[in-house]
Amino acid sequence: MGLIGERKRSRSRGKAKEPSQGDQNPHTGKPYSKRFFEILRTRQKLPCYEARSDAVDLVKKNQSSVLIGETGSGKTTQVPQFLLESGLGAKGAIAVTQPRRVAAMSVAARVAQEMDVELGAEVGYLIRFEDVTSEKTKIKYMTDGMLLRECMTDAQLSKYSVVILDEAHERTLSTDILFGLIKQVLETRSDLRCLVMSATLQAESFQEYWSNAPLLRVPGRMYPVETFFSLRPQKDYVESAIDVVVQIHQQEPPGDILLFLCGEEEIETACAEIEARADTTSKPVMILPLYSTLPMQQQRKVFPPAPEGTRKIIVSTNIAETSVTIDGVVYVVDPGLYKQKLYNPRTHSESLLVSPISKASAQQRAGRAGRTRPGKCFRLYTPDTFDKELPESTYPEIIRSNLCAVVLQLKTLGVEDLVHFDFMEPPSPESMMRALEMLHFLGAVDDECDLTEAGRHMAALPIDPHLSRALIAAAHSGCLQEALAIVAVISVPPPFQRPRQWQKMADKAHQFFASGQGDHLSFLSVYNHYTAAPSKGEFCRESFLHERAMKQSEDVNRQLGRICSNLKLDAISNAQKCDSLSVGIRKSLIEGFFMQCAHIEPGGKHYMTVRDQQMAYIHPSSFLGHKPEWVLYHETMVTDRLYMRTVSSITPEMLIEVAPQFYHPEHGKLSDNALRSLQRALPRVKAGKNSKA
Ligand SMILES: Nc1ncnc2c1ncn2[C@@H]1O[C@H](COP(=O)(O)OP(=O)(O)OP(=O)(O)O)[C@@H](O)[C@H]1O
Ligand SMILES: [Mg+2]
Repeated sequence: MGLIGERKRSRSRGKAKEPSQGDQNPHTGKPYSKRFFEILRTRQKLPCYEARSDAVDLVKKNQSSVLIGETGSGKTTQVPQFLLESGLGAKGAIAVTQPRRVAAMSVAARVAQEMDVELGAEVGYLIRFEDVTSEKTKIKYMTDGMLLRECMTDAQLSKYSVVILDEAHERTLSTDILFGLIKQVLETRSDLRCLVMSATLQAESFQEYWSNAPLLRVPGRMYPVETFFSLRPQKDYVESAIDVVVQIHQQEPPGDILLFLCGEEEIETACAEIEARADTTSKPVMILPLYSTLPMQQQRKVFPPAPEGTRKIIVSTNIAETSVTIDGVVYVVDPGLYKQKLYNPRTHSESLLVSPISKASAQQRAGRAGRTRPGKCFRLYTPDTFDKELPESTYPEIIRSNLCAVVLQLKTLGVEDLVHFDFMEPPSPESMMRALEMLHFLGAVDDECDLTEAGRHMAALPIDPHLSRALIAAAHSGCLQEALAIVAVISVPPPFQRPRQWQKMADKAHQFFASGQGDHLSFLSVYNHYTAAPSKGEFCRESFLHERAMKQSEDVNRQLGRICSNLKLDAISNAQKCDSLSVGIRKSLIEGFFMQCAHIEPGGKHYMTVRDQQMAYIHPSSFLGHKPEWVLYHETMVTDRLYMRTVSSITPEMLIEVAPQFYHPEHGKLSDNALRSLQRALPRVKAGKNSKA
C-alpha cells in the first residue's frame, strides 16, 4: 500500500504540463507535429515515464547517483529529456555516453524525433570522426571514448551540467577511466551531476565506488520476452543458429529476427546461408549484417522497417546488444558467445577469443526483443550452462587491454600518479608498465616518464599512438600529406568491395591501385585517384570501392589535417624535402610500428613476428604480390592462423636506421634468421648507403 501511495504522490508531483494539440514546441517555436503526439502516447507508457519525478529528484539532489531499470524501460531515451525539461540542462549540455557508435547515433535520432527537432540541433551525437551537434545541442549522445577525448582539452567538463554514463555494466575501457576522472571533477564542481545507468548492474559495487551514491530502481518492463533454452549443448553454434533462424522464419508469425554471432566473416557467411536455405519465395526476407567495421551507411540500414510482408533478419555482433532498439524485432537468437579482446602484456600481443558472454549480456540480448511488442528469445545453450558457465557480469576491459593509448591520455590529462588513480578496478601493474615502456619506445615519454612534445602531439590526434607517431615522423620527413591520406584510409571501414558474383572483376579493378611496396602505398594510390576523379561516384562504382568509406576517409583526412596544422606539423613537413616518397613513408611507418614487423622464415611461406615470435601469414586481401624478406603490419587477426593485415615491405637497412635500439645484430630477442639479415645489412648502413626499396 505504502508503495502505491508513494508512486501516486510522485506521479502527480512529477507531472509537468503535458504538451497538447496546438501547443508550440519551445525548442523550435513551431506547433508540435502529429508524429510527436503519436510517439508521446507510446512514451507515456514506458516505465521510466512513471518514474520521471523520482529520476529528476535523484539527480537534482545528488552529485552522483545510480539508476537501474529493465531493458527497454526508457532509461536512455527518456531520462535525459526529463532532466532537460526540469531545467537541469540550463547551464550546460547533458552528455549521455554510449559504449558504441551505432547506439549513440541511433538513440540520438530517436530522441530528436521524440522532441520533434532536427537531429543535430537540440539533440545530437558525437562519435569519432562524425560530429552531428551544434551550438544549440542540449542533449548530446556520444561514445564514451569521445567524452574522454574532450576531457583532454576541457578537464573540468565545463560544457556539461550533467554527465550520464549509460550502459555502465559494459565496463568499457573509456567508461572506467571516465569514472575516475569525473569523480575528481565532482570534487571541484559542486554544480555537476553524474548519473550511472544500466539494466544489468550489480548496483552495490557501483554505489560504493561513487561514495555511497543513492540508487533508483525503476520497476516494470515494456513487453514480456519469453525465453527458451536448448535441451542439449550445441556442437556448431553457427550451424545451430542458422537452423533456428530458418525454423523461426518458416514457422513463427511475422516479426523480425535478430541473431548474434561473433565476427564479420561468420556474419557474412551466415547471411549467405540463411538466404540460401530460407524459403524466401513465399515468405520474402531482408537479410542485413551488422558489425562495427561495416560503413555507417550500411549499419544504418538495419533500422528502417522492412517492406510490408517482408521479414527482416539482422545478423549482428554484440554491437546491437545494448542500448539499441530495432523496431520490429520479435525474435532474438543468442548462441551465448562473443569475441573478447584479450591482451597479454608479457608478449605485447592482442587476440580476439570467442568466449561465453556474461549473464548480464544474455539479459541485454533478450532485451532487444520485447521493446515494441512481446518477444521471444532463443538461447542456444542449456539452463545449466547459463547457471554455471556464464559469468555474472562482463570482465572489465581495462584489465584485459593494451593500455598504451590510455596511459598516454591519462598523462595528457595531468594524471601523474597512475598507480594511485582511483580506478574502480585497477589494471595490473605489469600492463601499466608495458604501456609506459611502449610509450617510451615511441618517444611519447622521456626517461623520467614525463610527457614529451611528441607525446603531447600524439595525444592530440584521435588515433592509435602508433599511427600518430608515424604521422609525426612523416611530417619530419616531408611526407605528411601522403601519410595523412594513408592513415585516413586505415581509419575507416575497408573501402574494397567484393560482391560475390563479381569477385574476379573486383579483384582486377583493385589491382590497378597495387603498389609493389604493399598496402600502405596502395591505399595512398586509392585515395589519390579517388580525390582526383571527376565523378567520384562513377569512379567508386567502376573501381569496386565503397563510396561512403572513401568519403569518410576524405573527411578523416580533413579533420586530422586540421589538428596537424594546429600542431604546426604541416609547416614542419613543408620545410622538408622528401627524396623518395616510398622510402619516406615506410620509414615513418617504422617509427610507429617498429614492434609490428616480421621476418620471413626459411622456406619462404610464413613470417616470424619480432615482438612475440609468432608464426604469421600475410592476409590474402593484401596488395603485396610477393613475399619480401621483412614486412611491417598494421594489425593481426586470428582465424585459422595468425594473419597480418595491411602489410608493407621494408628493408633491414630501414629498421637499423630508424629503430637501432631494437634492430641491431646483437639483439637477443630476434630470431637467428632475423639477426643474420641485420648483420648482412649493417655494413651497408655504416657505409652510408641509403636504404633502397
Ligand atoms: N527507434 C525506435 N523505434 C521505436 N521505438 C523505440 C525506438 N527507440 C526506442 N523506442 C521505444 O522506447 C523504449 C525505450 O528505449 P530506451 O532505449 O530508452 O530503453 P533503455 O531503458 O535505455 O533500454 P536498454 O537498457 O536496453 O538500453 C523502447 O523499449 C521502445 O519501446
Ligand atoms: Mg539504454
